[in-house]
Amino acid sequence: MQKPILILGACGQIGTELTYELRNKYGSETVVASDIREGNEALMASGPFELLDATNYKAIEDVVMHYEIDEVYLMAAMLSATAEKFPDRAWNLNMNSLFNVLDLAKEKKISKIFWPSSIAVFGPNTPKENAPQHTIMEPSTVYGISKQSGERWCEYYNTKYGVDVRSVRYPGLISWKTMPGGGTTDYAVEIYHDALEKGAYQCFLSKHTKLPMMYMDDAIRATMELMESPAEKISVHSSYNLGSMSFTPHDMAQSIKKHIPDFTIAYIPDFRQKIADTWPSSIDDSLAKEDWDWKPKYDLDQTTAEMLKNLRK
Ligand SMILES: NC(=O)c1ccc[n+]([C@@H]2O[C@H](COP(=O)([O-])OP(=O)(O)OC[C@H]3O[C@@H](n4cnc5c(N)ncnc54)[C@H](O)[C@@H]3O)[C@@H](O)[C@H]2O)c1
Repeated sequence: MQKPILILGACGQIGTELTYELRNKYGSETVVASDIREGNEALMASGPFELLDATNYKAIEDVVMHYEIDEVYLMAAMLSATAEKFPDRAWNLNMNSLFNVLDLAKEKKISKIFWPSSIAVFGPNTPKENAPQHTIMEPSTVYGISKQSGERWCEYYNTKYGVDVRSVRYPGLISWKTMPGGGTTDYAVEIYHDALEKGAYQCFLSKHTKLPMMYMDDAIRATMELMESPAEKISVHSSYNLGSMSFTPHDMAQSIKKHIPDFTIAYIPDFRQKIADTWPSSIDDSLAKEDWDWKPKYDLDQTTAEMLKNLRK
């Protein structure tokens, strides 16, 4: 039987859908959602919720003890574009929240952790195509630096203290249930909303900026499959490369035009272009495939069909 799970940052783009799926699988009462703010109505009505600051060790420990929590999914973070505006706050949130959960596991108060990394760990010196699992990284954004440091600490806590912490480097995520929280790939969600509402979109990245992306259903399934894998199958204790598809804003516009022929797109790159330029275009995720049988399901056209169908409802 699944022991109780705590999600920190449950009201965000990923946390919301992760909460639903974990509750579907393990039962509402088994999954405690938490965040520093309340989430949407459906999330709040779907099971136990605690207002909780992921940078407050004592507050997390109290909730862990109260619900006899066994696993923590740490989804609270400041994302790439916002972090460039508030570097100190981003570093404080992204690192201290991670130390809090790693320390809870080190002290044997919880037994398993999920913490997401990102393709932002890579930098301008990383090979652009098929960025390998092990390669030059040198991230140049505050967010990327926090994720790379986080990966090193995860591996350190695993090696030194036997902490069972699991992680994937998510690509840009595309979803319709919750809006994205200030990342460089947010265009790939906004575009569908604007296509339906205005028939046009002004993109903040250039026409040919190719980035690794993934539909949310694949991301949630990857997260749950990794967490359910037997420990002996996990060979990467920093974070796994995780791939699905790669495309440009132009490719996405073409995919939307198959459903909305009059859709138009204009390109006016802003500060986020500089961030995107430092990231790889595609990811080699062969280790995730070998170790825990990772297989993505959604390509760009399937993602477009799902996004438009659900946003129209
Ligand atoms: N969405 C993506 O495309 C993407 C890609 C790569 C990695 N990731 C990573 O996945 C994780 C979740 O991302 P997301 O897209 O859901 O982010 P999001 O911004 O949508 O959600 C983050 C949530 O954390 C909450 N939060 C902020 N400060 C907090 C605090 N002090 N205590 C508790 N909660 C707090 C916010 O209220 C928000 O609900 C992050 O670690 C992010 O870096 C996301």
